[in-house]
Amino acid sequence: MPFVDDLRLPCDEDELERRRFLALLGSGALGLTAAGTAVVVARYLEPDVLDEGDGRFEVGRPDALPLGTVLVSRARKVYVVHGPRGFYALSAVCTHLGCVTGHEPGQDRIVCPCHGSTFDVTGRVTSGPATTRLRRLSLTLRRGVLVVDTGQPVGDDTVLEV
Ligand code: FES
Repeated sequence: MPFVDDLRLPCDEDELERRRFLALLGSGALGLTAAGTAVVVARYLEPDVLDEGDGRFEVGRPDALPLGTVLVSRARKVYVVHGPRGFYALSAVCTHLGCVTGHEPGQDRIVCPCHGSTFDVTGRVTSGPATTRLRRLSLTLRRGVLVVDTGQPVGDDTVLEV
């Protein structure tokens, strides 16, 4: 079976240069796209947080988190959510057997990769095997900055109004 290259279609030096240039341009665009995507994904997975020790860490200013934001700190295993009633922090640790959950932005839900439990962004169980909602954690405002305390569980409906 003949391949296209075997057909030996007439091709002058200018045409070859043009093809090389376009191939180089395409490769460069692909490389830039891949690098940009990697930076965005890395930035998404690890937001800027300032560790204060003892389970407390600063998240940032509230105005940096518009309504509907679900900020994920995988290192801290915490979500910080700006919901309609205010801000709150959720533990990302699944209440079934302790796997670290993940947020699915498209579906606006939290999913456990281990056994498939799902939670809404308020932490309520939407499908098992987990039967208990995600723990809500202390979230306070200090000097204009949101501070999470992972060692301080709070009530399930606690929100911080700012
Ligand atoms: S540990 Fe999350 S569903 Fe089992």
